[in-house]
Amino acid sequence: MADWHKSDWRNKPRVQMPDYTDAPALAAVEARLSTYPPLVFAGEARTLRQRLAAASRGDAFLLQGGDCAESFAEFSADNIRDTFKVMLQMAMVLTYGAKVPVVKIGRMAGQFAKPRSAPTEVKDGTELPSYRGDIINELPFTPEARLPNPDKMLRAYTQAAASLNLLRAFSTGGFADVHRVHAWTLGFTDGEEAGRYREMASRIQDTLDFMASAGLSAETNSELSTVEFYTSHEALLLEYEEALTRVDSTSGQWLAGSGHMIWIGDRTRQPDGAHVEFARGVMNPIGLKCGPSMTTDDLKKLLSTLNPDNEAGRLTLIARFGAGSVGDHLPRLIKAVEEEGANVVWSCDPMHGNTIKAASGYKTRPFESVLREVQEFFAVHTAEGTIPGGVHFEMTGQDVTECTGGVRAVSDEDLSHRYHTACDPRLNASQSLELAFLVAEELSASRNTRLALTGS
Ligand code: PEP
Ligand code: CO
Repeated sequence: MADWHKSDWRNKPRVQMPDYTDAPALAAVEARLSTYPPLVFAGEARTLRQRLAAASRGDAFLLQGGDCAESFAEFSADNIRDTFKVMLQMAMVLTYGAKVPVVKIGRMAGQFAKPRSAPTEVKDGTELPSYRGDIINELPFTPEARLPNPDKMLRAYTQAAASLNLLRAFSTGGFADVHRVHAWTLGFTDGEEAGRYREMASRIQDTLDFMASAGLSAETNSELSTVEFYTSHEALLLEYEEALTRVDSTSGQWLAGSGHMIWIGDRTRQPDGAHVEFARGVMNPIGLKCGPSMTTDDLKKLLSTLNPDNEAGRLTLIARFGAGSVGDHLPRLIKAVEEEGANVVWSCDPMHGNTIKAASGYKTRPFESVLREVQEFFAVHTAEGTIPGGVHFEMTGQDVTECTGGVRAVSDEDLSHRYHTACDPRLNASQSLELAFLVAEELSASRNTRLALTGS
């Protein structure tokens, strides 16, 4: 982009970013990071844009998921493997329902910085800066821990690089073999409680058996043993993002080298603000969270600022209204998009509008509300004749107790058992896979409706 430079965001109003007190220390970290290799390459971001362009037309479906916030303490190969594994299982079930490829994007390898509802937190009369994610400060309620420390960006970079390295190895090293992935899913549906999903699992098994008997095996077809897996995070901490932004030598375009896709949060999407200014200039696919306060005027401005050439695959609108509220907001935003003739992927984040406080004091999200928001999202798209292009979940492969409900029900009282999130409550492995089965049913119904209407 000719009229843009990676530092231009500094001239715009910024919100949700820390005030670093040690300017020379910050400058030193930025200088260091800007000499480090980017984590992703422009060709990958371009391929992902093509995949998302297919999702905008209904020829693919997006599955985006992972931690609310990655943490330094929970960093381990097992954690990364288990989240990756559940996402592959979910993708397979969704592929079966949608009958189109599933584009897999982790909230991983860079999802460290968090917007907060208040800049400070008060406990027993003491006021301290809010925790903003491990790339900025620390969770314990002490003045030292809550002081923003720029050195943390270097540790986040290292953790992101190691995470991505492992994800790349899992994607191509045999771990992602479809038969293996499905065998794990059978382990879930064999359970007494998940019996209602057994039929779909056995139909997937039949398909795999048929393919094997027709001579399609992982040994001869690498499509069956490898996957494309992409990374994403909220581009919130712009000093970090800028330092990893480079010009792609083949195209001359700017690339945010911190991850394949970046998104703009619901609290930082001011059309004239710093975050939009940064995102508009990089060629990565961009996500834009759309909550209840998104006006149609702002959305129209954002569509033209972030995607002036209206390229399919550039922009994913991530709707997050809360169960019961989708019908109040999604139709008006869909209308705005249709009026502009804008090419977008419509994705549904059924997490961020459904956070409640349980009687025990824990922040939680009821599985039924999460499911209901997804169902409302599909229903509105069916009514409007538009395409539900994807889903966006906060989830983990671990057996945590953070969201309530699901067939292996987590109750309010269970929340204290394994509540490990550094930020918002996540679906556990069983809840995630169950949701994939339920979304697959929605996808299958929505596809049948579309086929009936178009007669093709
Ligand atoms: C998030 O995705 O973790 C988040 C903070 O979302 P939102 O900006 O939609 O509130
Ligand atoms: Co969150």
